[in-house]
Amino acid sequence: MSESHYSHIHFFREAAPYIQAHKGKTFVVAISSPLLATGQLKNLLNDIAILSTLGVKLVLVYGADLQIEQQLKQKNITFKKYKNRIITTDDILEVNKNVVGRLRINLETCLSYALNQPSVINQSLAVISGSFITAKPIGIHDGMDYQHTGSVRKIADQQIQQQLAHHSLVLLSPLGLSPTGESYHLSYKEIAVQATKALNADKLIFLQSLSADAAKKLPRQLTLNEAKQYSSLHCLIKHIDAAVQAGVERVHLINAQQNGSLLLELYTRDGSGTLISHHHYERLTAANIEDIAGILDLIRPLEKKGILIRRSREQLEREIDNFIVIKRDKKVIACAALYRMKAAKTGELACFVVDNQYRGCKKGDVLLSFAEKIAKQMGLEQLLVLTTQTTDWFRERGFVLGTVNDLPEAKKRLYNYQRNSHILLKDIHRQSIH
Ligand SMILES: CC(C)(COP(=O)(O)OP(=O)(O)OC[C@H]1O[C@@H](n2cnc3c(N)ncnc32)[C@H](O)[C@@H]1OP(=O)(O)O)[C@@H](O)C(=O)NCCC(=O)NCCS
Repeated sequence: MSESHYSHIHFFREAAPYIQAHKGKTFVVAISSPLLATGQLKNLLNDIAILSTLGVKLVLVYGADLQIEQQLKQKNITFKKYKNRIITTDDILEVNKNVVGRLRINLETCLSYALNQPSVINQSLAVISGSFITAKPIGIHDGMDYQHTGSVRKIADQQIQQQLAHHSLVLLSPLGLSPTGESYHLSYKEIAVQATKALNADKLIFLQSLSADAAKKLPRQLTLNEAKQYSSLHCLIKHIDAAVQAGVERVHLINAQQNGSLLLELYTRDGSGTLISHHHYERLTAANIEDIAGILDLIRPLEKKGILIRRSREQLEREIDNFIVIKRDKKVIACAALYRMKAAKTGELACFVVDNQYRGCKKGDVLLSFAEKIAKQMGLEQLLVLTTQTTDWFRERGFVLGTVNDLPEAKKRLYNYQRNSHILLKDIHRQSIH
């Protein structure tokens, strides 16, 4: 089988549980206005359509500030900004309506086309945009009259839910009407947060166009307080804060400049973006000396039962660099060690434990996937596990039973025949890194 076949199969197997988990869930996806102007937009809309065909209920919100400013400059209309919002005068409102309307039609056209590709599905899916947002004027602040710049007064959640129940994708524009018949320019980020709250959505996803440098600096997970330290998040932080304070468990930030990043974020274990939550949920990381007490708490009961071979504290201190841990706040709730075998491209996985309380939630899978990734980065081609009671768990994850003859020479000499552990091997050489 070719390399690319193998990675397709690998991706599909990894994605399968996520496809199941996301089916029927509601995600609010907010697209920044610079992203609408990039070459990635078409790919992104295709990926959004794929989410919809996989049964995710989608509410899409888009920004228009960049395009509005460009139009105003082209028409030589001067504009003022206060606290990062354009003051929307009557003239500017007209430009605003044109730009927002044009963007909406483009998005509707591209999405309808992507949603109804005969090759994708045989059921017709619609994009619905309507007056789902009631707006109110921001009013006068510090003597500055915001005029037609407004904020969200109400989201028509029930009407949106009805559309979602009929498998329609709902598109929300950054314009709203007040009950008095006035139009207001709204922040798409505020709409996204308010819609997430009103619909009790499962995820809020901000799709941004970040520089490769800024994107690289953002870690996989951040708490709200940590997120505040990142300058690339300044323009979003107020909204992320509002969402998290309102109880939205997870806000995803994805650099959608990278092709396929939305699908990678939602359907692979490693993801592609940054997850921001109120508190530390969990952190998967290399262990350090401070984790030793936590690792000992985790492994001692299993050593007593004979499931793991005993390690002294001193040995653990010497070998701590080989360990990876999952920490929930500061508590170590899972650990594993990876040892490079001398003169072989094999790494031994040992001390593989998930805290009793957290078993059955795929943490073992997360740990294994991270260990495999590190092993590949170390240039290893094969993983080895010796186990007495967990054979099937590893076999179900691609390990195959081997014999003592399959062990690297140095390990062969140390094999404990009395313990009679199963020898499990996994070829990691041909799997792609996500
Ligand atoms: C094996 C272990 C790491 C799995 O962690 P986990 O986070 O619970 O794993 P996951 O959630 O990814 O998988 C859970 C599945 O594995 C199954 N499983 C758990 N222990 C198993 C075992 N010993 N043998 C076979 N399957 C097992 C569960 O029944 C569950 O199956 P299901 O999905 O069909 O319900 C964890 O059970 C553990 O720490 N065990 C004790 C330590 C150990 O045996 N380590 C290996 C020594 S090298």
